[in-house]
Amino acid sequence: METRPIMTNAIEVKNLTKYYPATGSGQAFLAVDKINFTVEKGEIFGFLGPNGAGKSTTQRMLTSLLTPSEGQIRILGHDLAHDAYPAKGQIGLVPEESNVYTELTAWDNLMFTGRLYRMSKDDRNARAEELLKIFGLWEKKDVKAENFSKGMRRRLSIAMAIIHKPALLFLDEPTPGLDAQSARAIQKIIRQLSKEGTTVFITTHQIEEANQLCDRVAIINQGKIAVIDTPEKLKQTFQQVQSVEIAFTGTPEGIKEKLTALPEVSSVIKIGDKWRLYNDAPPILLPHLVKFAEEENLSILSLNTLAPSLEDVFLQITGQEVGTIKVPPKPNKKRRKGGKR
Ligand SMILES: Nc1ncnc2c1ncn2[C@@H]1O[C@H](COP(=O)(O)OP(=O)(O)O)[C@@H](O)[C@H]1O
Ligand SMILES: [Mg+2]
Repeated sequence: METRPIMTNAIEVKNLTKYYPATGSGQAFLAVDKINFTVEKGEIFGFLGPNGAGKSTTQRMLTSLLTPSEGQIRILGHDLAHDAYPAKGQIGLVPEESNVYTELTAWDNLMFTGRLYRMSKDDRNARAEELLKIFGLWEKKDVKAENFSKGMRRRLSIAMAIIHKPALLFLDEPTPGLDAQSARAIQKIIRQLSKEGTTVFITTHQIEEANQLCDRVAIINQGKIAVIDTPEKLKQTFQQVQSVEIAFTGTPEGIKEKLTALPEVSSVIKIGDKWRLYNDAPPILLPHLVKFAEEENLSILSLNTLAPSLEDVFLQITGQEVGTIKVPPKPNKKRRKGGKR
């Protein structure tokens, strides 16, 4: 008899839309605008976009915290609108705002969460010990979370999210505001979970994080997905919009044209007393800049190679400026859950 493997995607999203209801005399706000995407099992999928793009709104809908205005979500094969319960037990969530109970110890936070997932006492104890050790918090297990650094709280929050070994883990901007060491530790844990088979959906506004961590990245801007691609494509774009910023002791005639004519330079703009030269190859450009300064009898006051901003990359990939949009309300008589900001 022929057996067919059951191929369910981890996440399937069709036409997903969210309007936030109007407040006072204002207009309804379209935060997520008919988005479509699929996340395969085992992937680390990045949802990259600037502040206000609709990342958290999307993630809250995917985790049943917020009801969509329109569209369908399937999580691990279950339609969230009709069959959310089995999906909920298989997901873990690290929200943007800390969900750690600061008045409880690290241990008690984990016990509390384990009970929510109806884990047996033995399972809870064993898993909590394992996680606290992995997350470098074992020595602090009896310390109240109010005494933890932001990085420690975030690690605890992730431990809480995976105590029941979810098949699918959602993380909403897990690393901004953390010290570099904590951020790296968290990225390492995410990679490790992925290796063990967990599907990961992570929102971020940091291009580097998306590049380094994700198998595929969706770029979301103004509630719409601009592009879904591998980080390779992003990396290429990233390279094209590097820039070198340089300041000289003087401003000889025609300097802008001369700088633009240097090898690898695509465009030049003046920012304050600095010249910013967009180019794809700073290592090639730099010696030419030094030679240029010599020939023009100028000294170099400062010289910096800049990574592109998210704004630069967006503009390059989508031709769009980053930002948010407001649209008139959709006629709909049903009252919707607004969700807390
Ligand atoms: N509860 C809410 N009511 C009204 N507008 C909201 C609410 N939550 C978020 N928004 C707006 O929706 C847009 C998307 O927000 P959000 O999903 O939090 O973006 P991101 O996570 O990408 O920064 C923003 O313009 C934000 O101000
Ligand atoms: Mg957010």
